[in-house]
Amino acid sequence: MQFGIMESVISIAADFGRHGLLTHEIRSRIGELENEVEAAGRMATVLPGERRDSAGDAGARDHVETGWRLVLESAPLDSHSYGVTYGGPFEEVSARVMPSGPAQTGPGPARPGWELPGRLTALVHRVLTGRGPASRAERSVEQAAARLGVLALTLLTLQDAEARQHLDIATRVRVDRNAAKALEEREAHANLLLSLPAVGEALRIMYRPPLPERLAHKPRPGEEDAEEYASYERSLEAWEDLDFGRMRLFRFGTTSVILSAHLRDGVPSRSAHPLVLKCVLLPYAQVPAISQATFSYQQDYSPWTDSPDAKESLTSTVEVYASACTWILMEQAAGRTLHDVLTEDYPRPADDRPTLEGVVPRPLLEPEVRPQFGLLPRVVPPLLKALDELHTANLCHADLNPRNIVVEAPPPGDAGEWRMRFIDLGRNHLQGRSFTGTQRMDELYAAPELRAGEKPDAHADLYSLGQIIIGTCGIDRNPDGTAPDAFYAVTPTLARLVEDLIDPAPERRLLLFPEVGVLVGRHDPRGNSPHQRLQAVFEREFEALVTAEGGALEDEQRRWVRAVRLLAPMAGSPRRQLRLGTCRRRQMVASPEPERRLLDRSVKQADWLTAWSWLSGTMWLVCLVTVVPLSLHDLGVPIPLPDMIGAAQRASTGADRLAARMTGLTFALCAVKYYQSIYAGLSSRWPGKPPTLGRPGLVAEFWVRANALIVGLLVVPINLFAPRMWTLGSAVGITSAFCVNHFGYRYALRGAAQAHEAGIGTVAQPKNINGLSKYAMWGPSMLIYVVIVWSFSALLVQGVLLDVIAYACVVSGINVGLFYVVKCSAGARDVRIGLTRCYLAAERLEACSADGRAAPSSADSLP
Ligand SMILES: Nc1ncnc2c1ncn2[C@@H]1O[C@H](COP(=O)(O)OP(=O)(O)OP(=O)(O)O)[C@@H](O)[C@H]1O
Ligand SMILES: [Mg+2]
Repeated sequence: MQFGIMESVISIAADFGRHGLLTHEIRSRIGELENEVEAAGRMATVLPGERRDSAGDAGARDHVETGWRLVLESAPLDSHSYGVTYGGPFEEVSARVMPSGPAQTGPGPARPGWELPGRLTALVHRVLTGRGPASRAERSVEQAAARLGVLALTLLTLQDAEARQHLDIATRVRVDRNAAKALEEREAHANLLLSLPAVGEALRIMYRPPLPERLAHKPRPGEEDAEEYASYERSLEAWEDLDFGRMRLFRFGTTSVILSAHLRDGVPSRSAHPLVLKCVLLPYAQVPAISQATFSYQQDYSPWTDSPDAKESLTSTVEVYASACTWILMEQAAGRTLHDVLTEDYPRPADDRPTLEGVVPRPLLEPEVRPQFGLLPRVVPPLLKALDELHTANLCHADLNPRNIVVEAPPPGDAGEWRMRFIDLGRNHLQGRSFTGTQRMDELYAAPELRAGEKPDAHADLYSLGQIIIGTCGIDRNPDGTAPDAFYAVTPTLARLVEDLIDPAPERRLLLFPEVGVLVGRHDPRGNSPHQRLQAVFEREFEALVTAEGGALEDEQRRWVRAVRLLAPMAGSPRRQLRLGTCRRRQMVASPEPERRLLDRSVKQADWLTAWSWLSGTMWLVCLVTVVPLSLHDLGVPIPLPDMIGAAQRASTGADRLAARMTGLTFALCAVKYYQSIYAGLSSRWPGKPPTLGRPGLVAEFWVRANALIVGLLVVPINLFAPRMWTLGSAVGITSAFCVNHFGYRYALRGAAQAHEAGIGTVAQPKNINGLSKYAMWGPSMLIYVVIVWSFSALLVQGVLLDVIAYACVVSGINVGLFYVVKCSAGARDVRIGLTRCYLAAERLEACSADGRAAPSSADSLP
């Protein structure tokens, strides 16, 4: 056995160690190797580089490779561990093993200089600049330098991954100029390294597929090993066909570096597509699960390779030509990743993008930037189409995120369809294990069951789809993974669908849309697959959103428009509800029979809410057309009044009349605003079913709707026939509003709490629902107000208090200032969002218990 090369590696490694380039761990592992050699008792008898016999030489080479693998496998994964082990910033230390730009002047191509310390610098420099190598020792140094190049490539990739780990399509933070420059430099460095023949050769040697462990110990493979051996030979053959001199950087990955690859001259190409070689970084490749998944990648995700027909039909993945424990050779998909397309072509408006300090709260009247809902029809259908194909082939992606989807997208102005293809299939084995101590953004997309290490199925991809929908809209995510507020604020219908996709429990996904059914198989009588049905559901809900919003999805609202909308008594709700109802009816009519039954419920629900929204609005208008002419009459405008009304006016004092007008109008204003800005789209009652949560649902529903009428029913008769009863009217009015508050809150709280207790993960703990907490705070102030109004009314009726006008002014002022402006205008959005979350949670809870949902199947309820 030849130990010479081994010795030189050990000496180089020791040299690295002296210069702080080796971790303590590697040092000790190299120490172990030394001991091993010493134990064999031959260490001192061999000289570096001497060749004794070929078997011994091969053994020594193995040892050399083992030594180098140790160095590469132990590369620190992030700047923190880099700092701890090497005592310097990531960039600075890695620069020591990186060519530092063209150091050569004079004739010939520019060659890199090296910033390695000490004796090694001179040797490596000599090797790389082509002066030498002459001696055997230097030859081994050449190998060492080349392997250092591979280490540098690894470090560059890790640096890049660290720089990108917090970028997500939701925030669309574009890399700033410095980061872009740093990326360019990293890419240039990587290509410089790859342009060195020695580095290409080192890559070839270090990533060459090893004989599988099991076979390595057998003198000759038996029949039972035939398949494994054949697969090893195939990958070896594919490997040897590659031209390592022409490898160039294609893209840095997170756990791998992607190189554009070419075949050696004369080797016939099997594909018309350009090739990429994904080299898994050695620190990750040593994780058995990762190397196993990489090894079997070609078999797992190109099962159609041997069947030309199947290959034709599966277009949603890239073709994989070969794979081994540390690399995958595959087709290069045309286009950019979904992450790049959204970030580069559809950035969030500059003032809306989060800064490093987080999102700056937008002042109330600032123009609101709406989520980019308009992008959804471009992203969701092609994604579902690709998923359909994948799931039909009995595959699931299991790591679906925007960086693993390549999109062929026409430029932003072009209405052409997007085409999506998947790369990097299979569970991400880094999920749930912290290699670097920080959470990467990709983890947000992984279904909880994946993170828990369970076997994934198509439902895991549904979860990722839901998170991609959220990200596509360019809204900040909720840290707990639930759908962000903007969905609930603008489109509860879409929020409901997104919730149904991202339920942490896979068996509860698609609970509210039984028409989709289970995800795999099961074409309906019309030949539609579950994915096509899901697409139809998405298109239906999206149409409902667009119609409800009057077609203006991404309207940037000017400050005054926003102020008017914010303060308008009806907040546009009656029209919105009407449009929604019309849309639902149209959808129902256009649907075939089984879905029509399901949609019928939505239509009835929309009709119910539309009717109440219009009733509430009508009540307000009736109050207005009653009180305004009476007030004008009070001011002496000659408006003829019917006898009965005229008599009633004359029977009351001027102060009572004024008080009745002021308080009546302001109470009516508050009632309509309260209803329209908070409850117009919410109901605990679903047609044909008892209210959700039973009694609390019924009571809440009663008070919410009743309050929309009560105030009008009080204001109109009091103003017409008994102005002096205004004190009683005020007291009853505020009590009714208090009941809405109290019972509405209790219902919402109970819905969220019970859903949370039942493990429904789409809703946070009630105390963490911001809007609900705000709504809870309305209660005490409302109660105090109720007590005050009742007390003052009693004192006024008793004649203890005499200053009617002052009291009426205070009540009207509180109505307008506190209730109308502060609570029902400025604070309504948050409360509505919180309540919508709770109402949806209650609906989900109800659906779960009705369905007895434990198994991931709504197939039984399939139409
Ligand atoms: N076959 C391919 N065709 C086109 N681009 C590819 C291909 N494979 C990888 N890429 C590009 O390289 C990037 C990283 O690849 P991949 O996802 O396989 O590696 P990774 O280590 O998992 O990294 P990441 O965490 O960024 O996904 C991809 O986001 C994509 O831009
Ligand atoms: Mg990936």
